[in-house]
Amino acid sequence: MRTQVGIIGAGPAGLLLSHLLHLRGISSVVLERRSRAHVEQRVRAGVLEQGTVDTLVAAGVGERLLREGLPHSGIELRYGGAAHRIAFEKLVPDRRITVYGQQEVVKDLIAARLAAGGDLRFEVPDVAVHGLAAEPYATFGGERLDCEVIAGCDGFHGVSRPAVPEGVLTVFARDYPFAWLGVLARVPPSAEELIYARNERGFALHSMRSPELSRFYLQVPPDADAGDWPDGRVWAELKARLETVPGFTLATGEIVEKGVTPMRSFVAEPMQYGRLYLAGDAAHIVPPTGAKGLNLAVADVRVLTEALAAFFATGSARLLDGYSAACLPRVWRAQHFSWWMTSLLHTFDDDDAYARRLQLSHLDYVTSSEAAAATLAENYVGMPC
Ligand code: FAD
Ligand code: DHB
Repeated sequence: MRTQVGIIGAGPAGLLLSHLLHLRGISSVVLERRSRAHVEQRVRAGVLEQGTVDTLVAAGVGERLLREGLPHSGIELRYGGAAHRIAFEKLVPDRRITVYGQQEVVKDLIAARLAAGGDLRFEVPDVAVHGLAAEPYATFGGERLDCEVIAGCDGFHGVSRPAVPEGVLTVFARDYPFAWLGVLARVPPSAEELIYARNERGFALHSMRSPELSRFYLQVPPDADAGDWPDGRVWAELKARLETVPGFTLATGEIVEKGVTPMRSFVAEPMQYGRLYLAGDAAHIVPPTGAKGLNLAVADVRVLTEALAAFFATGSARLLDGYSAACLPRVWRAQHFSWWMTSLLHTFDDDDAYARRLQLSHLDYVTSSEAAAATLAENYVGMPC
């Protein structure tokens, strides 16, 4: 079997790449190890930058997103018994975010690919990539897929990045001494905008998915097990961390999903080797506090699509050769912003009283200085494409 671009992984990066290449007349085959139901139901990120929304709409897969997505023009920072709004409409006019679940983006992309007769293969066992220096091919379940190029879109734990020969990639990484417990609950959101709460008990985030569904995150120890968090404990902790301003009561309801996400910063450079190009979590991970992971994956794919389109149209590898260099400035901006938001809002066990005062002073600065708030706002809504 032969295709122009072999895509490993049917997450947002792999599916969007396959769709955008199709629009340019370039063939691809997507190899995904999990089932379609699994990737469509995996609850993960929920905040889309303006540039991500624009990309999906321009690609013809934004119809449901525009109908069901929740546009937001601000977020709240809650700490010290008070609520502080970061007003995007004033600080970054014309740019906002849209709350729309990652699994909804995945469903829309799968539907579009299948409607166009795209070759998506789910539950593919034992994917491996070979010949990356010059003549790449993938093997899986006794079959072979020859390609001009392989796109490694298989996330942090995939097979693409580890297939790069030793010594080629430089890795930059940091682990955090906590994780996030994420829950999805059948209850109307208790606030209109997202609430990022700094609390001595640990960080909490109130987000949403629809007028009937709320999404919450709690800072928990790095080795936490979702099984240790029965629903009553989750609600009690969310209330303790969020009901800290006068007049705010958290509505509770049935919890329908629960999971622990480790917090990690990671970049592998360069994001390419020979005919292999890494995109999304396969190349970099951010802690979710800045809501950047999914948006970075989309940004990589935008750049890779242009480079591949030029390659297949003209034979010139100039843009492909510059792929990593073109992506990394945005990747590192998101790395810094995600680390900064994480440091600003979480409690660190080894922080002394002095460090806690610095954190509060920093929060006071962000919520009182327009310049500091604009820094948060322009990073949060996403740097221009
Ligand atoms: P992925 O979505 O990871 O997709 C990779 C795909 O490759 C998967 O479908 C996987 O099954 C497949 N794959 C892996 N290995 C193989 C293989 N060997 N063969 C074939 N296929 C393979 N970001 C936020 O902003 N906020 C959040 O709350 C948030 N929560 C998250 C929770 C979890 C548990 C995780 C893992 C990530 C979370 N993220 C969050 C990050 C965000 O979801 C990712 O940045 C985003 O999914 C990146 O998309 P991707 O397509 O690069 O990778
Ligand atoms: C959501 C996730 C995030 O990581 C974040 O910073 C904001 C919202 C969410 O899943 O809704």
